[in-house]
Amino acid sequence: MRRDSTRAKMSQSLESSDRLRISVIGAGYLGTAHAVGMAQLGHDVIAMDIEKEKIARLSACELPFFEPGLGELLRKSVEAGRLRFTASYDDVAEADVHFVCVGTPQLPGSFNADLRWVETAFAELARRVAGPAIIVGKSTVPVGTARRMAEVVRHQTDGGRVEVAWNPEFLREGHAVQDTLQPDRLIFGVESRWAEQLLRAVYQPIIEEGCPLVVTDYATAELVKVSANAFLAMKISFINAVAQICEATGAAVLPLAEALGYDDRIGRRFLGPGLGFGGGCLPKDVRALYACATELGLDEVATFIRQIDAINLSRRDRALALGRELLGGTYAGRRVCVLGAAFKPNTDDVRDSPALAVATAAHREGARVTMHDPVAMNSARLVHPEIEYADTIVTAAREADLVMLLTDWTEFQDMDPALLSSVVRSRNVLDGRNALTPERWRAAGWTYRA
Ligand code: UDX
Repeated sequence: MRRDSTRAKMSQSLESSDRLRISVIGAGYLGTAHAVGMAQLGHDVIAMDIEKEKIARLSACELPFFEPGLGELLRKSVEAGRLRFTASYDDVAEADVHFVCVGTPQLPGSFNADLRWVETAFAELARRVAGPAIIVGKSTVPVGTARRMAEVVRHQTDGGRVEVAWNPEFLREGHAVQDTLQPDRLIFGVESRWAEQLLRAVYQPIIEEGCPLVVTDYATAELVKVSANAFLAMKISFINAVAQICEATGAAVLPLAEALGYDDRIGRRFLGPGLGFGGGCLPKDVRALYACATELGLDEVATFIRQIDAINLSRRDRALALGRELLGGTYAGRRVCVLGAAFKPNTDDVRDSPALAVATAAHREGARVTMHDPVAMNSARLVHPEIEYADTIVTAAREADLVMLLTDWTEFQDMDPALLSSVVRSRNVLDGRNALTPERWRAAGWTYRA
């Protein structure tokens, strides 16, 4: 109900007196989705990124990544004159609300997040913004960052009122439009009623439609995001841990997950057993929470969180071992067809992709790996040129000794085992996502493992 009426309301857009000037710093995945979302709410938006090529593409209404539905809204927002792009901080100084949406990747060789882009963005804005304005962090950061950024802003701005707020996002790749315009909840980490009111004005159409809002302090707002992701990761690792017990005892994990899911307190979502989680958020956030607990000296908490990651990574080894078994003990000299490169369906993102991890490990053990993915092959090729890539499922499977399904795209779930039987060398299939119907594959003469 709420979702439909929000859409209707947004198509009417805000009264001109309610429109705010909004800047978005960082035109990556989150920033672009947020900038388009803000323009769709009716605000005047300028998005800034230091990468000039990205800005040129976005100004020409071209999305630099794959995201269903976002390209169309980008075009509409630009054509309506609600959204512009720039590569200069000077152009965003006048905005009333600045959203910092830059990346916080995992630091190489550490479990901590790399905060250099966040620090730069706040410092650059603080030097230019005269106020009254708020600078709102959306990036996922370790607890304590907002307070530090508030100090930076306090020291560098003089005169007008400029405050820091934290407003984490919970955007899922493949659902960016829905998650931005119809979020499950809004979190405002603020230090004053004034900053809260300004954020309420930004999200007015969404709040009016009944979206739950939690107004809190900086530290809580920062922790909500990592806790939410760590909890989702824990659900996946939990069902994967139980899957191992099922495997050892002859129990079936899928009906078990279904049975658990009927309990409202548990719920069925994120109880999908298989190759585990990847992507730019869940693994990084679990590790960041682990690093935080360790730094605080909370050893038991740290051990608990560490196991979420350990169980998840062990799934990749298990898939590799199952594949080796199906091949009679070795990957050396065998042909392996890998279906899926993206860390999950409906994205071209291959960051920390379980599918790519397994494929490259099989390659290192001597297999000739041919991979197919509906949209993520270009991203995969950039990081792993050593693997072969095929334009269709059938060409990837030609002469294969083993077919591994590692990302659960719908087109893989629907594929016809009889058709593949005619092109492979041996009918061995490893279903890394519990996405296929085993009876169908077995009936077509395949040896099926999941
Ligand atoms: C996640 C959070 O869902 C989102 O709220 C946050 O803002 C960013 O991080 P995303 O990284 O896009 O979003 O992916 P998500 O849909 O959460 O999936 C994460 C991973 O878990 C994927 O690799 C997926 O394949 C895996 N997964 C998901 C499972 O292995 N089993 C499941 O049951 C569900």
